[in-house]
Amino acid sequence: MCGIIGYVGRENSERPLEVAREALARLQYRGYDSAGIVVANELGLSFAKRAGKLAALEEQLAAHPLPLASAAIGHTRWATHGGPTDRNAHPHMSQDGSVAVVHNGILENHALLRQELIEAGVEFQSETDTEVAAHLIARAHAAIGDLAQAMRSVARRLEGAFTLLAVAADNPHLVVGARRTSPLVVGLGEGENFLGSDVAAFIARTDQALELGQDQVVTITPESVTVTDFDGRAVEPRRFTVDWDASAAVKGGFPTFMDKEIHDQPNAVRDTLLGRVSRAGRMQLDELRIDESLLRAVDKIVVIACGTASYAGQVAKYAIEHWCRIPVEVELAHEFRYRDPVVDQQTLVVAISQSGETMDTIMAIRHAREQGAKVVAVVNTMGSTIARESDAALYTHAGPEVAVASTKAFLAQIAATYLLGLYLAEARGTMFPDEVRSVMRELDAVPAKIQRVIDGEAAIRRLASEMKDATSVLFLGRHVGYPVAMEGALKLKELAYIHAEGFAAGELKHGPIALIDQGQPVFVVVPSPRGRDVLHDKVLSNIQEVRARGARTLVVAEEGDRAAAAHADTVFWVPRTPTLLAPLVSVVPLQIFACALASAKGLDVDQPRNLAKSVTVE
Ligand code: F6R
Repeated sequence: MCGIIGYVGRENSERPLEVAREALARLQYRGYDSAGIVVANELGLSFAKRAGKLAALEEQLAAHPLPLASAAIGHTRWATHGGPTDRNAHPHMSQDGSVAVVHNGILENHALLRQELIEAGVEFQSETDTEVAAHLIARAHAAIGDLAQAMRSVARRLEGAFTLLAVAADNPHLVVGARRTSPLVVGLGEGENFLGSDVAAFIARTDQALELGQDQVVTITPESVTVTDFDGRAVEPRRFTVDWDASAAVKGGFPTFMDKEIHDQPNAVRDTLLGRVSRAGRMQLDELRIDESLLRAVDKIVVIACGTASYAGQVAKYAIEHWCRIPVEVELAHEFRYRDPVVDQQTLVVAISQSGETMDTIMAIRHAREQGAKVVAVVNTMGSTIARESDAALYTHAGPEVAVASTKAFLAQIAATYLLGLYLAEARGTMFPDEVRSVMRELDAVPAKIQRVIDGEAAIRRLASEMKDATSVLFLGRHVGYPVAMEGALKLKELAYIHAEGFAAGELKHGPIALIDQGQPVFVVVPSPRGRDVLHDKVLSNIQEVRARGARTLVVAEEGDRAAAAHADTVFWVPRTPTLLAPLVSVVPLQIFACALASAKGLDVDQPRNLAKSVTVE
């Protein structure tokens, strides 16, 4: 949550403002309640900030341009403390205007600090927790005369999660950042340097980056990057190359990022699968730095994730249990963290996260590691906290996902967990190498099948426009179709603000069938008739049960499944795919449906109300 950019260059120019505006446009998915930029030059600090989407800030900048400068910091906000107003927008200035600050996270002891500052005569301008940091840093800076040292001394006093960036009026040639738990990465340029809440902030400018660790302070000048811990001891950060293509973060002719990302899905899956089988035909997951003997000793897998990523985990459960014969539990990270979960050295925790910054998941993996479990992260964002804090990271190669609702990252997560399952099955000897290769061949054929579903999107879009006044939609599935049903419902809730529920089809008779009345739309994800016949037949019975009670049945079925079509008001065909791999194709019509229905309602598909892309607070 909250997008952050920091920039410093050699000379006074328009570049700092340009870099900040471009970064905020890329980072909007992290929050869009308000935005602001402050620039620094020899004459001091000048800022602009506005409630609302970035367009409101752009209007203000057009009317009142900011001066040429050598440094800038910028922020796009997802409100926590204080509503989304102009006054609460970042940057926050100290009372004397000497320091400006932007912040991501929550300062848990802000009330106490605020009281202390009020008693010392400070008049607050906003209701935010952040403003205390601006005043504290300015006071420390006035006393010490060094912004980095001031930042360190204040960071030591702050409780909670934070990324803070500060610039000072008396030195426009540096920007200082601090991080505890919230994300911050450094971008390395030629005669300029960057700070970002994630690499999307600067991918158009550089692909060279540094990871910052917990409780570190960084100072960037045009020629240098200095990192220390909160006590001032020097730290050597790890350098990495960002392999995202900057053009992946633009709409490329599609009406929304989500439309584009749905169309990116064949590539996201293909790229995630790429290079995972050695010449000798063995699974190779180079990033997996966990000793094979440890993997062989694992007696339980716990998948932790939130939202859509947790549904990827639910799909993985069916595949990994079948292939590896290890029990797999799937836990919402926030639920896992605050009970007393049974994990130990024999437990393999798999944390799934697109952003790699979801605070609930971060807290859960920390807890799991404290209990002795090994953690493998399945993440999309390089240099992210979850990747760094896990024992191993298996990267999905979906590229930057900008739309708030996850699509291509979801498919890439499912593909990556299949790879993990096959790797474990091979290491543990629960599958023969030729069986593994046969699944890999089926997987390699999936991107073309996803493309075929996308090619048939017109029919789904027509249905979506026709249903734009629906007030409730139900989704049913069994086996791997169950998490697909839940994901279909989540997409519709978050994008179209329609009440939607995903159920295990077998659960219908235990309650949910009472919801069915005349005309109730029900999507049903039908398993392959060639897989386990029982499963297929059971779902057909479920369709008949709801149809008999007046439901309008919208069925996702495998091409040629006449039996399913016979019970459907509308059928969406998906290509033949082995049962365990089928979610990669069967979820696609549901994504397209939600996206098209939200567009038909005139809603903002990429930035649904109240949501932010990475949920960096608990
Ligand atoms: C829904 C969605 C969210 C995320 C969840 C976890 O479309 O995107 O439910 O899946 O917030 O986010 P990550 O994967 O970044 O940990």
